[in-house]
Amino acid sequence: MPESARAGTAPTRNDDVDWDSWPVEDYLAENYRELHPSDAAVIAHHSAFYRGFAPGSIARSVEFGAGPNLYPLMLAASASRHVDAVEAGAANVAYLTGQLRRGPDDSWEPFYSLCRRLDPSLPETLSAALTRVRVIHGDVRTIRPGSYGLASMHFVAEGVTEDFEEFTDFCGHFARSVVPGGHLVAAFMENMPTYRIGPASRWPGCPVDPGVIREVFAPLTDRLAVTRINADPTLPDYGDSGMVLMTGRTPSPPGRYG
Ligand SMILES: C[S@@+](CC[C@H](N)C(=O)[O-])C[C@H]1O[C@@H](n2cnc3c(N)ncnc32)[C@H](O)[C@@H]1O
Repeated sequence: MPESARAGTAPTRNDDVDWDSWPVEDYLAENYRELHPSDAAVIAHHSAFYRGFAPGSIARSVEFGAGPNLYPLMLAASASRHVDAVEAGAANVAYLTGQLRRGPDDSWEPFYSLCRRLDPSLPETLSAALTRVRVIHGDVRTIRPGSYGLASMHFVAEGVTEDFEEFTDFCGHFARSVVPGGHLVAAFMENMPTYRIGPASRWPGCPVDPGVIREVFAPLTDRLAVTRINADPTLPDYGDSGMVLMTGRTPSPPGRYG
C-alpha cells in the first residue's frame, strides 16, 4: 500500500516531484557501482529477448525514463541502430551526457562484459555500443505514439508515482510509444512502496506484482510473457520483494503477421 494511503493523504503524483534533484551519486552507489545478482538476472532475461533480433534490425528504440542506468542502453545496442534515452531529470541527463562524451565509468565494464558474453553481436567495446545512444531531456508522456520499433523501461512506471491509475497511464504511454507490432521489454520492482535513496531523499512508489503487470499489459500486447526474480540481499532494502520482468509485442494491424 502506498505511504499516502496508509497516512490517508493524497497520493504523490509524477508532477508533484522535482525529478531534477534525483540523487545520482547515491543511486549509483546503492545500485550500479557493482554488478548485483538481480541485475545479472535482468541482463540474462533481456539478452535472451534481444538475441531474437538480427543486429541492427530495429531502426530506433527508446529507453523510457533512462535515469543514470547504462545497462539497458548496452542491451539495446546490438538490435537497434539508434537508441533514444529519454529522461526528465536534469542531473540524470547530465550524467548520461557525460558518459557519452567522456566515456563510461569503469564500473560499467562488468555489466558490458556480461551483456556481450550473452549477446556476442554487441560491439567490441562499451564506448562503441554507446555511440548509438542519444540522450533526450524530456517527459516520456510526450513521446509521439508509434515513434519506435522497440521500447524498453526499467523501474519507471512503478517508481515515479504513488497513484495506481497514473502507473497504468505510464504503462500505456510506454506501449503506445512503439509502432503496431512493436516490441516491449521491461523490468519493475515488485511490491515496492514509496522508497528512500541516500540518507534522506524520498521518492514515490506504487506496489505492483506479476498479476498486476499481466492485467495492465494484457490489453496492450499480443504476446505477453511475465516472470519474476526474488529480492536481492546485496541491494538496499527498498521494501520490495524482487523484480517483475516482461516482454511483449503490441498488436499488429489486421492482415500483418510476423
Ligand atoms: C526509479 S528511477 C529508474 C531509473 C533507471 N531507469 C534505472 O533503471 O535505474 C525513475 C526514473 O524516471 C525518471 N522520470 C520520472 N518521471 C519521468 C517522466 N515523466 N518522464 C521521463 N522520465 C521520468 C526519473 O528522473 C528517474 O530517472
